[in-house]
Amino acid sequence: MKRTAAICAIVATILSALSCGQAARKAETPVYLDESRPIEERVEDALSRMTLEEKVKILHAQSKFSSAGVPRLGIPDLWTTDGPHGIRPEVLWDEWNQAGWTNDSCVAFPALTCLAATWSEEMSALYGKSIGEEARYREKDVLLGPGVNIYRTPLNGRNFEYMGEDPYLASKMVVPYIQEVQKNGVAVCVKHFALNNQESLRHEYDAVIDDRTLNEIYLPAFKAAVQEGGAWSIMGAYNLYKGQHLCHNQYILNDILKKEWGFDGAVISDWGGCHDTDEAITNGLDLEFGTWTDGLTMGATNGYDAYHLADSYLERLRDGRASEDVLNDKVRRVLRLNFRTAMRKDKPNGSLCSPEHYDAARKIADEGIVLLKNEGNILPISRKAGSRILVVGENALKMMTVGGGSSSLKVQREILPLDGIRAAAGEGVTVDYERGYVGDVSGSYNGVVTGQDLSESRSAEELINDACKKAAEADAVIFIGGLNKSRHQDCEDSDRLGLGLPYGQNAVIEALAKANPNLAVVIISGNAVAMPWVDNVNAIVEAWYCGSQSGIALADVIFGDVNPSGKLPMTFPVKLEDNGAHHLGAYNPESRTANYSEGIFVGYRWAQKQDIRPLFAFGHGLSYTSFGYSEASVSKTKMAADGTVTVSVNVTNTGDREGKEIVQLYIGDDEASVERPVMELKSFRKVSIKPGETVKVSFEVNADMLKYYSEENGGWTLEKGVFTAYIGAASDDIRTSVKFSVR
Ligand code: GLC
Repeated sequence: MKRTAAICAIVATILSALSCGQAARKAETPVYLDESRPIEERVEDALSRMTLEEKVKILHAQSKFSSAGVPRLGIPDLWTTDGPHGIRPEVLWDEWNQAGWTNDSCVAFPALTCLAATWSEEMSALYGKSIGEEARYREKDVLLGPGVNIYRTPLNGRNFEYMGEDPYLASKMVVPYIQEVQKNGVAVCVKHFALNNQESLRHEYDAVIDDRTLNEIYLPAFKAAVQEGGAWSIMGAYNLYKGQHLCHNQYILNDILKKEWGFDGAVISDWGGCHDTDEAITNGLDLEFGTWTDGLTMGATNGYDAYHLADSYLERLRDGRASEDVLNDKVRRVLRLNFRTAMRKDKPNGSLCSPEHYDAARKIADEGIVLLKNEGNILPISRKAGSRILVVGENALKMMTVGGGSSSLKVQREILPLDGIRAAAGEGVTVDYERGYVGDVSGSYNGVVTGQDLSESRSAEELINDACKKAAEADAVIFIGGLNKSRHQDCEDSDRLGLGLPYGQNAVIEALAKANPNLAVVIISGNAVAMPWVDNVNAIVEAWYCGSQSGIALADVIFGDVNPSGKLPMTFPVKLEDNGAHHLGAYNPESRTANYSEGIFVGYRWAQKQDIRPLFAFGHGLSYTSFGYSEASVSKTKMAADGTVTVSVNVTNTGDREGKEIVQLYIGDDEASVERPVMELKSFRKVSIKPGETVKVSFEVNADMLKYYSEENGGWTLEKGVFTAYIGAASDDIRTSVKFSVR
């Protein structure tokens, strides 16, 4: 008994020693490491423990894509990665070239124009979840995307990375992506803030724009990203506004983003976007990346100390020429970013190249592909046994995930259109191929190579003849062309040189149309293109860049396994001059001043103001079924300024197969004291409707949806009077409208 008692006594002593040790350790656990404490307390505690040198150290890069933490305090480094469509392969510490890893291939999700074309917040959430999991798995803390720069000109080389021409659509589509990415403990870095609507002279042009246009067109998607999406970081753009680079711009970053919008995250410079130490200190930059320090970073250890927010900043702080308060605000923001990501212990593990991510990529593409025209029911193509399909065009087999700039990827796989069509055609259907034309036979970017041999010895004429010969004998012909990720196509750092299809594709399409009217033209692009042959082709599809599952998703639509439901997030003008900026000569790739002279009249706003009929309108997209709309009704004809009205419509599937319709609500101000667009998108609903079924769609209209930005009032203004609610299947396909007035 005694022995047992003794043992118990010893155990009790040990346990009590342990518990007080734990208590002591608990007491010793610093606040900044205690995840149960509010983040602001943790940030303040960490800040109070940091030396001046440590504070400055975390404000700039230490390698191509990482910035330092505070090792002494156990605060980890911060790792960023491109891009908006998938997780970029690992590069060497201080170079753009590949680290040569063999476990960093990813899933390429559809380009963001395709996501925007789904008009589905559900797809946006699925996208964010999936890409966020891939970033987390690769242990990246900041995803350098999404981009929401507005589609001002069809020539902008990076439009494929963005969400179209309408600020409302972009605002709605960016929020779920952000929220879902950040649930993985990965920050988004919404870019490129702001007014980066062209690639020509992107480091130098100064955007000249009136306040109303800035607030009505170019800021809303970023504002939604911050205030509704809760973005944890924002990327400053390369260009200038009011003579200041956007990576350190007092008005845009401090006055609007941080003060007016209440942004509590970090402003990260675009790579090489920081040009001035004093402006970087005072004008809102928090984390400096990619600065060119005269080659000092080529392997030299002191390269990063030559950054503006590095030694130069430290010097100014030490001799009192820079405020510690401003420094501490930057440090708080970077610490907050770190605590939300790298420092977070309860982060999920993420996943890479999972079946779920391939399914997500396919679903988003299925919902984003747009059926532009389908006369004579060319589409869907039948799988009748014994039938012969001819596929023509370089884009049927050219990989599109490599190239285009920083969004370029090293994919685990990319199902090409021709392969997807062959796989889906099934037994008994012959799928033949002809090149049709030669575009860009190269296939590498930043050391990632496609490995494709696209070499071709035949002349353009021989290629067309060979294609037409086979076309004449085929039951169906699918031309797959468009743009690609080469310079002056859909590519960062260069704009397109014209609206037309490159590489002589128009001649191929015209010849094929003559050889066989059973022709469907598939355009793979991130931009609108001119279609001089549009009247001679019965079926046209805009298939975007759909990433790893491109071929599967295209086949889903081509064979009708999926009923297309995408709608255009940008106007396809007949010719360049039908676009506002081009009509006014305001887009000038040689000028260091970008005059936004078309003002708020961007996209369909311009087309409707000028009564120009577009080739295909914003919001246009067909289905393999059809939809009828009832007359709209309104809950009341008089709306109090602080009240709402509800506008409703019944939509019926008048065809013979289930389909999704994107019902769009536009609002027009009938009695404005200032010039306003004929109508502006203010809401939309994507509804799935069975054959013969009718669905009631209701929109609640409130005052905010009726306001315009008044420069003289310095803010959003509601004017009383009569408004029209337009409801339709596209901006140029209004089915019904109803009026109401604001008292
Ligand atoms: C590039 C791009 C930006 C990208 C960054 C890092 O120049 O403008 O979108 O995230 O640099 O690659």
